[in-house]
Amino acid sequence: MDQIIVTGNGPLKGEIPIAGAKNACLTLMPATLLTDQPLTLTNAPRLSDIRTMTALLGSLGAEVASLQEGQVLALSSHAMTSHRAEYDIVRKMRASILVLGPMLARDGVAEVSLPGGCAIGARPVDLHLRALEAMGATLDLCEGYVHAKAPSGGLKGAVFEFPVVSVGATENALMAATLARGTTVLKNAAREPEIVDLARCLRAMGAQIEGEGTGTIIIHGVQALHGATHPVVTDRIELGTYMLAPAMCGGEVELLGGRIELLAAFCEKLDEAGISVEETPRGLKVARKNGRVRAVNVRTEPFPGFPTDLQAQFMALMCTADGTSVLEETIFENRFMHAPELTRMGAQIEVHGGHATVTGVESLRGAPVMATDLRASVSLILAGMAAQGTTTVSRVYHLDRGYEHVVRKLRGVGAHIERVKEEAA
Ligand code: UD1
Repeated sequence: MDQIIVTGNGPLKGEIPIAGAKNACLTLMPATLLTDQPLTLTNAPRLSDIRTMTALLGSLGAEVASLQEGQVLALSSHAMTSHRAEYDIVRKMRASILVLGPMLARDGVAEVSLPGGCAIGARPVDLHLRALEAMGATLDLCEGYVHAKAPSGGLKGAVFEFPVVSVGATENALMAATLARGTTVLKNAAREPEIVDLARCLRAMGAQIEGEGTGTIIIHGVQALHGATHPVVTDRIELGTYMLAPAMCGGEVELLGGRIELLAAFCEKLDEAGISVEETPRGLKVARKNGRVRAVNVRTEPFPGFPTDLQAQFMALMCTADGTSVLEETIFENRFMHAPELTRMGAQIEVHGGHATVTGVESLRGAPVMATDLRASVSLILAGMAAQGTTTVSRVYHLDRGYEHVVRKLRGVGAHIERVKEEAA
């Protein structure tokens, strides 16, 4: 298994190109299952999660060609051979559940194993299932699989209010509703930029959708969707992660393709902490103003609130802030696994339930640490870049799920970072 070795360094300078969004691409790819015509996605990120989705779609009979070094995905589902998403693939990635709605909508039948994914909480899929049930689907849970059937004549439009905001459940329901008979109204829908991106792609495929980006999405079902070409929206989590690099090490870095509207709540917190964020014609420029970063409190919330996927990285910033900050996690119940690892580097963190209290220290010290999930792994790299001495991060396969060319991108702005093969024990 590979490790990443980081040695703390001084100010960073340069630019980092931001890739297309993993989470958008993972919901755009299953949209191929809604049509027998080709779907082309441009600006796709090169990540292991994308390869997992490619394998999953392939197991169903869809073709996914990776072109231009993986930045373009040409998808076609004209000859489906299976409607069963097997446990062996689904367990690797929770987003696999997103094939359920499209398969059910187009072919009236789907069997999907219950998913795995990051170990950051229970993460049920009940809302995905309840929304599809509201559209008339009958669902059976049997031996770890969801067996879903649409009524004869297909799914029916419905009014469904999500009791909790769920990104994935909104995506599944939105895709399914495009081919349902009649109109579907999704209330308390997620408003994330990835939902807006999915709606835009579906519209380019002929779907009739209004209200994406608000809490109410209205979908008028159509008979069939057609092919389209769609560019994947910028990855706001990769963007926010790399914005924290100059915030922690000092210096000035331009994030190419970045936009404040993707991360307004996060940018406000950076401003409070004393980090300057400026829009440029090519993206966002981030610089640390003089002195130590100020401690600020953060509460994770669905979009447009502060994203849970940036909580671990922001905690790394707060570890050396001047003062005490409280980070409240409201989306996932077990998302502070990075805290004990940061503590190994000299951070002072106390976790009580959904709150982490971080008392800033002058500086962190390098240490061997272990990545526990995708966003935790990159928070340890950021901490290592700002620490004195050398940090070795193991289990970096988590990182490959969500960050393309992380070593190359950070080296490009002057970070001392390399990837090595772990020595056999
Ligand atoms: C997506 C993102 C993930 C991000 C999360 C929240 C992808 C591939 N992943 O995950 O990176 O951290 O949004 O922004 O896009 N819930 C239920 N029942 C359900 C579904 C969800 O109770 O059927 C709960 C979850 O346990 C969680 C909350 O709802 O507490 C929000 O989860 P959700 O928005 O669904 O997250 P994902 O779509 O899995």
